[in-house]
Formats: sequence, C-alpha cells, structure tokens
Amino acid sequence: MTGQQQQITVPQFVGFKREGHKICVVTAYDYPTAELVDAAGVDAILVGDSLAMAVQGHANTLPVSLDEMIYHAEMVGRAVRHALVVVDMPFPSYHLGPYKAVENAGRILKETRCHAVKLEGGADQADVIRALVMAGIPVMAHCGLRPQSVHALGGYKVQRNETQLMADARAAEEAGAFAMVLECIPAQLATKITAAVGIPTIGIGAGAGTDGQVLVINDLLGITSGYVPRFVKAYADLKTTITTAVGKYCADVRAGAFPGPEQTFK
Ligand code: KIV
Repeated sequence: MTGQQQQITVPQFVGFKREGHKICVVTAYDYPTAELVDAAGVDAILVGDSLAMAVQGHANTLPVSLDEMIYHAEMVGRAVRHALVVVDMPFPSYHLGPYKAVENAGRILKETRCHAVKLEGGADQADVIRALVMAGIPVMAHCGLRPQSVHALGGYKVQRNETQLMADARAAEEAGAFAMVLECIPAQLATKITAAVGIPTIGIGAGAGTDGQVLVINDLLGITSGYVPRFVKAYADLKTTITTAVGKYCADVRAGAFPGPEQTFK
C-alpha cells in the first residue's frame, strides 16, 4: 500500500461485488489505529458502536452516545486516506423516526470526515434508510443478529429465520442501502442472501460466502478481554506483546536501567 492511493467511494465499494473483489472491513475507534489499518489496505473502516465494549468496557453496545460516536469518528476520519469510513448510528439515534435519524446522521457526516452511516435493521427500518438516502447520506444496513436488540433477543444468538432475514435484506436494498452487514447467520443462508441482492454483503459470523468480512479490531489483534465469539480469528497476540513490553519497562525502571545514556540529555 502506498500513500498515493485514492479514497474509495461508495460507488466503488458497491462495484466491488460486481468485480468479485472480496471486501475487507475492520473497526477502528482512534487516530493511530485508523492510520495503521488504512495503510494495511482495508477497503472500509467501521467506527462501530462496538466501541462501547471494545473501548469503554461496557457489557453491550447500548450505552455509547451519539456525541461519543462523533468524538471517535472524527479521529478516525482525520487519519484515513484510502478506506471508506462508515460510522454506526448508536441506539436510539435512528429509532425516533426519519426526521430525527436524518438530523443525527447529518451531524455524523458534518462533524466527522466520514462517508456513510450504518444502522441495525432491514424491513423495520426501510423508511429511515429511504429518508437518509434521499438526504444524500449513504447507508449500510445491518441484518441478522442486531446487538442493539440484545435484551429483546435474550442474548447474542445465531439468527435462523430465513423468511425474515431474506425480507430484511431485500427491504434494505430496495430502500437504497449501498451494502449490508450480515451478522451471526448460518453460512448457507448468508450465501443465499448474497446471491439474492445486488449490493455487497459484509459478513461477521456468516461464513465465507458473503462479499466481504468485518472483524472488530480488538478481536483481530488479540486484545479482547473476556469472552471471544467463535467466529473471531485473532491474527496477533497483542495482549501478550503489550503486557510483556510494559513488564520489561517496569523492570528496567526499578533496576535503574531506564532511562540509559541514549535517552538522557547532557
Ligand atoms: O459495532 C460493530 O463493530 C459492528 C460490527 C461487528 C459489524 O457492528
């Protein structure tokens, strides 16, 4: 990846499906992480409301506020040169009707440098998706497991209602969504939905048959504390790397080995 690459646009992102280009998405919540994952060549960065869990240490995604999402998304948007940046609309910033949703999504686009919003829903949120798209705000839908509905669902469970999921996916596309996340659904069903819609599907816990994949950066880098879902693959063990490095620093300070002559002004 060179610094010369052009910013990926929403139409280009949609075109990846036609071209058979497998789409790589990760989350990021701050400037240095966004800069690194952008340089690594991801196609899109999601400022997910998972920041409530990954950054703020909450038990679910419900507590994060719109102002907090904007605070983090602004850092990410400022760092990114290449990837498309999508920002989650937090609960309940789009549940009070299309007018309020446009107002809140408008704030996200105006106050960050990001390009699109994501919201959880399909058929039930079609009116909101349509209103946002009419306002010129690109929308990524999120079907299957919807973490913002964790209490109604009774936990984070694989979603298997084919009729409902297919209807959600079709409704999201029909309302104008440019892509959709498919979370925690059987692989065969995700493949079927992917074939049935003309917009890219981005899977998480949805098998290999979707147009792309998304992972939470903490999971990918191995710094998640506590429960790690089965669909996660850690590509590094930064938890060990970080605790080992900080342990060595403490040992050096206590032994009088840091700072040494190289770190000291004469
Ligand atoms: O908030 C988030 O990080 C997400 C992804 C897991 C898709 O919605």
